[in-house]
Amino acid sequence: MVKASVLGASGGIGQPLSLLLAISPLVDELSLYDVVNTPGVGADLSHINGTAKVTAYLPEGGAGLEKALTGCDIVVIPAGIPRKPGMTRDDLFKINAGIVRDLATGVAKYCPKAFVLIISNPVNSTVPIAAEVLKSHNVFDPTRLFGVTSLDVVRASTFVADVVGGDRTKYKIPVVGGHSGETIVPLLSQISPKVDIPADKLEALVNRIQFGGDEVVKAKDGAGSATLSMAYAGFKFAEALLRAGNNETGIVEPTYIYLPGVPGGKEIQDTVGGLEFFAVPVELGPNGAVRATNPLVKVSDYEEKLLEKCYEGLKGNIAKGVEFIATQS
Ligand code: NAD
Ligand code: LMR
Repeated sequence: MVKASVLGASGGIGQPLSLLLAISPLVDELSLYDVVNTPGVGADLSHINGTAKVTAYLPEGGAGLEKALTGCDIVVIPAGIPRKPGMTRDDLFKINAGIVRDLATGVAKYCPKAFVLIISNPVNSTVPIAAEVLKSHNVFDPTRLFGVTSLDVVRASTFVADVVGGDRTKYKIPVVGGHSGETIVPLLSQISPKVDIPADKLEALVNRIQFGGDEVVKAKDGAGSATLSMAYAGFKFAEALLRAGNNETGIVEPTYIYLPGVPGGKEIQDTVGGLEFFAVPVELGPNGAVRATNPLVKVSDYEEKLLEKCYEGLKGNIAKGVEFIATQS
């Protein structure tokens, strides 16, 4: 029996993501939690004749979060405010840092063994926040905490197909680093199946992958950021974990993890200037991350330059998250 929970379930991402989980045969129970509107979203989804039983909770002074999380195997967190034009993801830190801290505290108390998937931005900092909270409750298992960077991977294959043609569902591109602007590094030299990207198109393509989020924020013109493509990408990652949980082998997905705590991660940490959190392709198994793979050993000179900028940006983002929790206690 698999119980999944979405925290922030009434939001732009939360609703379509909950729909996808509710109709997944891999989920037996889906609990929805948000500070508003969960009774309505829950009633709506509960009429679907899928396999998942849907339950919905409001805070109820803390009892709602406890009920939503108790017995959970997988918790997906898209709670928090989205960007408006002119904002960076880091501008969301002020509000979202506290939201993720409180929800991670709930995970530590009520379902400490669950897989935790963080979508709330800025992911580069909110994942370190969740890790620090779990550590402070002595329940941190780095093989079970994931920053969701799948949207960058989805965008990379779509945008590559836009340039070179071919089946956009078939391109696999390791996207490493973090999840904001220059910290997003698509390793197009390792694209599979192999295609030649025209040299005069390379920089614009990389820039589009790095700043794809801005494209949506601009188009939505004040009404938020990517929600539907994110729900799709977030579901794909959750589904990959659930499939691995069913003993399916050979599942590898890029995700932002705590390198020192995942097999293969320490070696990568040495390559990335000691950064503790970094997105790399990770092999998944029934207990979460099995092994971090290292695509950095064969990057091009151009990608090496992109990586240098990424390391610089990530360092500050990670420190900001860690410090946020350190200064609270
Ligand atoms: P939204 O405003 O539509 O929804 C957010 C939801 O979170 C709302 O329903 C709100 O009530 C809820 N919420 C706020 N505080 C909460 C709390 N303490 N507990 C539970 N729920 C709470 O926003 P959205 O468009 O769904 O985006 C959500 C977050 O996801 C944003 O931070 C956004 O930047 C981020 N995001 C990340 C990625 C990624 O690739 N990782 C992609 C897109 C968006
Ligand atoms: C995205 O990449 O679409 C998300 O991180 C949302 C944003 O703020 O761009």
